[in-house]
Amino acid sequence: MSASPLRLGVAGLGTVGGGVVRLVTEQADLLAARCGRPVQVTAVSARDKNRDRGLDLTPYAWHDDPVELARSDDIDVLVELIGGDDGPAKLAVEMAIASGKDVVTANKALIAHHGNALALAAEAQGVALNYEAAVAGGIPIVKALREGLAGNRFSRIYGILNGTCNYILSAMRDSGRDFDDVLDEAQALGYAEADPAFDVDGVDAAHKLAILTALAFGCPVNLGAVHIEGIHNVSAIDIEFATELGYRIKLLGIARLTANGVEQRVHPCMVAEGSAIANVGGVFNAVVAEGDFVDRVVFEGRGAGEGPTASAVMGDVCDIARGIRLPAFSVAASDLAAIDPAPMDRHVGPYYVRLTVIDQPGVIADLSAILRDHQLSIGSMLQRGRDPGEPVPVVLITHESEEAAMAQAMTQIGNLEAVVEQPKIIRIEEL
Ligand SMILES: NC(=O)c1ccc[n+]([C@@H]2O[C@H](COP(=O)([O-])OP(=O)(O)OC[C@H]3O[C@@H](n4cnc5c(N)ncnc54)[C@H](OP(=O)(O)O)[C@@H]3O)[C@@H](O)[C@H]2O)c1
Repeated sequence: MSASPLRLGVAGLGTVGGGVVRLVTEQADLLAARCGRPVQVTAVSARDKNRDRGLDLTPYAWHDDPVELARSDDIDVLVELIGGDDGPAKLAVEMAIASGKDVVTANKALIAHHGNALALAAEAQGVALNYEAAVAGGIPIVKALREGLAGNRFSRIYGILNGTCNYILSAMRDSGRDFDDVLDEAQALGYAEADPAFDVDGVDAAHKLAILTALAFGCPVNLGAVHIEGIHNVSAIDIEFATELGYRIKLLGIARLTANGVEQRVHPCMVAEGSAIANVGGVFNAVVAEGDFVDRVVFEGRGAGEGPTASAVMGDVCDIARGIRLPAFSVAASDLAAIDPAPMDRHVGPYYVRLTVIDQPGVIADLSAILRDHQLSIGSMLQRGRDPGEPVPVVLITHESEEAAMAQAMTQIGNLEAVVEQPKIIRIEEL
């Protein structure tokens, strides 16, 4: 093979960086054949040169400073695997672009916060800004939306975008245990970080959803427009009721085109147990794309981990090796057109409502009157046991209802004397 090798500078040698170095070494022949030229790591950067990473780093030039690596003449592509929306990762990516180098990154925080400016800069320089590994790990959803599904207008993209949350919700369902208990176990098993807030509060999923929205709808990334709720309020009793009603509870990221603009929301959802997404368990991720010509396409796979993430990174590298450079968000960065964000209080859908009420005559009539006043109608109602004078759970499933009306009704219901806890609502997503 006579073509010149593509030279990678890998910044960050942690879980993903280590995986990329290993993949490039172990799959050298395969990559060369598929790319039409060899692919080599030539230089690396991390904080601690002496850390034992189980890798032989002697063949590679070492840079303490990833920005120096990014500008170095030894590399054609910066592979940024440091992480964080600011600091060294951003500086290194900016330097690589300014130096005319292609960029591959797995950094969702960076793309969600600065993707628009970075895409503009990359396009001005004629270099790639590829970030397949930033969304849903090993699932090649960026490529699918940008290339394979390019002939479609999308009505909705949704998915399980955070493996930690999916693991916790799956384990809660399997064991009947509560959130805190399962979170402790997830931390012990390494499925949740010591500080799990980023995952369980829905922020990580929101980063990925904001990126998917830009790709699918041809708009700038708008993280601020994402409505975000985490999973800490999901309780064992809601999971039990969900099962009884034929649903599963999943943390979904959903981007949906509505008459009011594009909704972007991350929150726990009830989904029908027969749906594809309901059956994606454990740490797995899934993304569903609904397009006007293709109908519905479902992708499932590992959303994190050394191997799957390195696999996604190398897909991006191979494109560059073959000379393929596509606009970061499906259309040229300068042509991304802002779309009105649909206000969350205009969201319309069915709701699950769980009330804890004192079992006494007239309660249901009071509830019904409030719901009627807000033009909310009930599809079904479930009462667990009867215990006169004592609190009992009552579950309602509404027909399609508007969020604002639901919120007002729930405030009034929460103020009823016989209602002893704030009503709990979980949106139902019809799939
Ligand atoms: N882990 C996953 O499964 C996964 C999945 C999808 C996307 N991602 C994304 O991939 C990126 C990397 O994640 P990771 O899990 O591999 O992280 P990680 O294991 O924490 O590794 C981070 C690496 O960055 C290096 N680093 C930190 N600050 C640096 C600095 N100032 N200069 C040079 N190097 C520096 C660290 O060096 P030392 O080793 O010397 O400390 C370490 O090698 C993040 O953006 C993450 O969101 C990760």
